[in-house]
Amino acid sequence: MQWAFLLLLAGLCSLSRAQYDEDPHWWFHYLRSQQSTYYDPYDPYPYEPYEPYPYGVEEGPAYAYGSPPPPEPRDCPQECDCPPNFPTAMYCDNRNLKYLPFVPSRMKYVYFQNNQISSIQEGVFDNATGLLWIALHGNQITSDKVGRKIFSKLRHLERLYLDHNNLTRMPGPLPRSLRELHLDHNQISRVPNNALEGLENLTALYLQHNDIQEVGSAMKGLRSLILLDLSYNHLRKVPDGLPSALEQLYLEHNNVYSVPDSYFRGSPKLLYVRLSHNSLTNNGLATNTFNSSSLLELDLSYNQLQKIPPVNTNLENLYLQGNRINDPSTKNQHSKPSKNVPCSQSCSCDFQPLEGSISLCTIRAFSENF
Ligand SMILES: *[C@@H]1O[C@H](CO)[C@@H](O)[C@H](O)[C@H]1NC(C)=O
Ligand SMILES: *[C@@H]1O[C@H](CO)[C@@H](O)[C@H](O)[C@H]1NC(C)=O
Ligand SMILES: *[C@@H]1O[C@H](CO)[C@@H](O)[C@H](O)[C@H]1NC(C)=O
Ligand SMILES: *[C@@H]1O[C@H](CO)[C@@H](O)[C@H](O)[C@H]1NC(C)=O
Repeated sequence: MQWAFLLLLAGLCSLSRAQYDEDPHWWFHYLRSQQSTYYDPYDPYPYEPYEPYPYGVEEGPAYAYGSPPPPEPRDCPQECDCPPNFPTAMYCDNRNLKYLPFVPSRMKYVYFQNNQISSIQEGVFDNATGLLWIALHGNQITSDKVGRKIFSKLRHLERLYLDHNNLTRMPGPLPRSLRELHLDHNQISRVPNNALEGLENLTALYLQHNDIQEVGSAMKGLRSLILLDLSYNHLRKVPDGLPSALEQLYLEHNNVYSVPDSYFRGSPKLLYVRLSHNSLTNNGLATNTFNSSSLLELDLSYNQLQKIPPVNTNLENLYLQGNRINDPSTKNQHSKPSKNVPCSQSCSCDFQPLEGSISLCTIRAFSENF
């Protein structure tokens, strides 16, 4: 992990440095507390040379001690801060802004989060074609007030934060350079098949807490996608086809009642699947639906299952609480795990859902009524 990059990320949060001033590792604690369970967006991807952060801990100020700091450059909008020693960043967050100021052409990182902005007017980013990050989360942006061509010209944009707004539609067209797209906590109801077309570098897509009822084949072509979060929506069906590089799929808190046979075969790297709090029944599952060799964790808790579905032999964690599993034939399969399975103390190793040499070891909170 690189210091400057972490500090750059810290610009996204609305934290006051002061509360952490005693602790030289404040940023680390902050990021730790913000991280999702598994995905570490900061590690695996090499980013371009990092810009020094304005409040650089290691870099030191760009001007000599004792002399007055240089004045802010004149192109900086008066509502914002443009630190002289970080000429490509502009900070306009947390200041009750109602409109977006025009962004000067030298900017690469712009922070507008936590204001009362309701529109993204055409033209605001027209000069800033080198933008890499745009943070607009925590505003009141509505879909009708997002200019049609607003993002398509930003051919280097890698991160777009539009979460916690009032969007009802997918924004677009989006630049093909995007790597992270944050659209969670809006009121988006549909993901059209072409909404994400051509986003060949997109690695993480956050759409949780929306009103999405259906996702057609929009995800299929996202060949770099490793994280897809569609939890807390109104999906009755799983998306048509999963991206081939996918590792993490979050679909909990929807109304999914079935998953097609071989559904996960198209994603041979899939590690984590969460389907808790849905409407799955055994009738909606084919024999081999979850028999996918890459899966390490599968959460099927709080569904309508009456039998334990077959799973692969490498699975490490299976969650089944909150179902209706009370089948004597599964009880009879109680047996010791095969000898080559290392059972740690945290494992409950006294249960084997499948005949044969399954190495399924950890079954946590197996079933309330088992
Ligand atoms: C946008 O860029 C052009 C060309 O560099 C410049 O003439 C113009 O003043 C800029 N607009 C604003 C509002 O900064
Ligand atoms: C955005 O949604 C919030 C909460 O639902 C609401 O209070 C606010 O008025 C909405 N803003 C706009 C501009 O629609
Ligand atoms: C995707 O990423 C690669 C490698 O970083 C880059 O060369 C390529 O231009 C990117 N594609 C787009 C459409 O930006
Ligand atoms: C799971 O898949 C493997 C490999 O495709 C197959 O050999 C095995 O029989 C399947 N298990 C069940 C219970 O169908």
